[in-house]
Amino acid sequence: MRRIGILTSGGDCQALNATMRGVAKSLYNMLDDVEIIGFEDGYKGLMYADYQIMKPADFSGILTQGGTILGTSRQPFKQMRVPDENGLDKVEAMKHTYKKLKLSCLVVLGGNGSQKTANMLSEEGLNVVSLPKTIDNDLWGTDMTFGFQSAVEVATIDCIHTTAASHGRVFIVEVMGHKVGWLTLYAGLAGGADIILLPEVPYDIQVVCDAITKRTKAGKRFSILAVAEGAISKEDAAMSKKELKEKKKNGVVYPSVAYEIGAKIQEVTGSEVRVTVPGHMQRGGEPCPYDRVLATRLGAAAAELIINEEYGYMAALKNNEITKVPLSEVAGKLKTVDPNCSMIKEAKRIGISFGDQ
Ligand code: F6P
Repeated sequence: MRRIGILTSGGDCQALNATMRGVAKSLYNMLDDVEIIGFEDGYKGLMYADYQIMKPADFSGILTQGGTILGTSRQPFKQMRVPDENGLDKVEAMKHTYKKLKLSCLVVLGGNGSQKTANMLSEEGLNVVSLPKTIDNDLWGTDMTFGFQSAVEVATIDCIHTTAASHGRVFIVEVMGHKVGWLTLYAGLAGGADIILLPEVPYDIQVVCDAITKRTKAGKRFSILAVAEGAISKEDAAMSKKELKEKKKNGVVYPSVAYEIGAKIQEVTGSEVRVTVPGHMQRGGEPCPYDRVLATRLGAAAAELIINEEYGYMAALKNNEITKVPLSEVAGKLKTVDPNCSMIKEAKRIGISFGDQ
C-alpha cells in the first residue's frame, strides 16, 4: 500500500482545496491501494504528528470551496533549524513523523518559504512533491501559481470608478503581493487604473503627482492608482536597509504605503484622496474557473509524479503545458516583474503611468 502525506502551508489562497482534490482523485483513480494522510495546519501538523486519515469523500465537493480543509500556518523557513519552546528539533520531528507513518511521499502545497522547507526535507532524504500556491505569483519555475487569478478578480475593484467619478477624487487601491508586483499589475490593468506603482519600478512622487495634475487639466474628474503593498520610492530604493530603518524611525508613521503616498498626493496636488485596502479579502472566496482548471491539472500532474516515484519536483505551468521543476531550482528564488517586460510597455503605451518617468 502507498501512504501519501499532504499538507497546505503558509498564507492560504483560493484553489488549495481544488488542488488537493486533483491530487487525491488522481491517486484514488490510478492506484488500487492508497491511503492519504492529511496534516493539520501545514508543517506544524508534520512536526507534532497532528493528522487525519482522509477518505475519498473528504475530497468531494471541494472544487469551489475557498480556504483549506486541512488548515494552514506560517512556519518560517528561517526558524526551521531553531528548536521550539520545548527544545524540539523541528526538522528531526518532521522526519520522525514521516518515517513513523511509513509515508511513501509528502505532498506540499506552498509558496516561497514552504518550497524552501520542501527542498530541505527532500535533501534530508524524504520523498517530496510540491505544488505552486500563492496569490503573489512570485514562485520561480512556473508561469502561474494557483490562487493568483482568483486574487486578481478580487483586487480588480471596478466599483471604485463610480464613486471616484461621482466625487472627483483620487483613489488609491493597495494591492497585496508581498515584495512583487504581479497582482497589482494585473489588477491595475484589469481595473483601468491610471497609475500603477510596483516594487520593481521605484516611483518618484513628483512624477505621480504630475500624472494626476495632467489628468485634471485634461478635464478628468478623478484618478485611480493601483499601488502594490511593497511599492517603494526611488529615494527609499537608493537607501541601505540601515538608512531606511533610521528614516522610518524618525519620520511620520503611516499604516501602510498607500496612506503615505496618499498624504503626499494630497499635499502636492490639493486633490481629495481616499485609500482602499482590500487586504485579506484578496485571498478569500471561491477559486475562479481559471484556477480550478490549473489546480486540477497541477494536482493530476503531482499524482503522476508520485505514481512514477519521481520525487524532489514541483509541478509547474510553462507555456500552458504542465511540467516539473526540481525543488532545488525553485527554492530561494523569486519571480519578479521585469520592469522592461512587454506588459509594462503596453500599459505605458495606453497612457498608464508607473511613476518612474
Ligand atoms: O503571500 C501571500 C500574502 O497574502 C502576501 O501578499 C501578503 O504580503 C502576506 O501574504 C500577508 O500575510 P499574512 O496573512 O501572514 O498577514
